[in-house]
Amino acid sequence: MGVELRILRQLELDGTTCSDMNDLLEVVSPGKPPVTQRDLLEIVKHTTVFVAYDPEKSHPHGAAKIVGMTLLSERRLMTGYKGYVDDVAVLDGYRGQHIGRRLMHMLIEHARQLGMKSLELTSNPNNPKRRRAIALYESLGFVVADTRVMRSRLAPPLAFKL
Ligand SMILES: CC(C)(COP(=O)(O)OP(=O)(O)OC[C@H]1O[C@@H](n2cnc3c(N)ncnc32)[C@H](O)[C@@H]1OP(=O)(O)O)[C@@H](O)C(=O)NCCC(=O)NCCS
Repeated sequence: MGVELRILRQLELDGTTCSDMNDLLEVVSPGKPPVTQRDLLEIVKHTTVFVAYDPEKSHPHGAAKIVGMTLLSERRLMTGYKGYVDDVAVLDGYRGQHIGRRLMHMLIEHARQLGMKSLELTSNPNNPKRRRAIALYESLGFVVADTRVMRSRLAPPLAFKL
């Protein structure tokens, strides 16, 4: 039996799931503080979390180990209904088996069924660790957009001059 895919549901959010998801967070964003079960609960309420799991690698209480993930959040904007892709990650020992591609296919199909008109994501082209990811996105039809991503960390509070 190979790796299978599913959407993560609130009911299955126990400590083991949380630990598996944090292993994947470390893959995609090393050093980021781990998420708690409570964080994860909020995430799945607002975001569709696709996971790949290995039925042959079970945890002691029976749940299959999660080995890959990707997240789809929705943006209902004046310019249309769009999706945003984040946190695409597959555990090291499972790479090169088209798990990342299958996760992205599932996400894209889900976005189509929801009626989304486009998908966006960001990936740093100067980071050599992103080479596989960028090759994957390009092969799925993603192209570099003209717009630049700008970010505010919102801490400390912005000082507004009036
Ligand atoms: C990106 C990632 C999710 C891909 O997962 P994966 O399951 O290994 O990918 P797949 O086996 O589905 O391969 C997808 C495509 O990636 C590319 N790819 C795979 N291995 C590659 C390699 N060694 N070098 C370059 N490109 C590679 C190919 O285009 C491949 O498609 P193909 O085999 O049909 O030609 C995984 O490498 C990963 O977790 N990377 C670290 C986290 C990360 O960078 N996330 C993206 C954040 S923007």
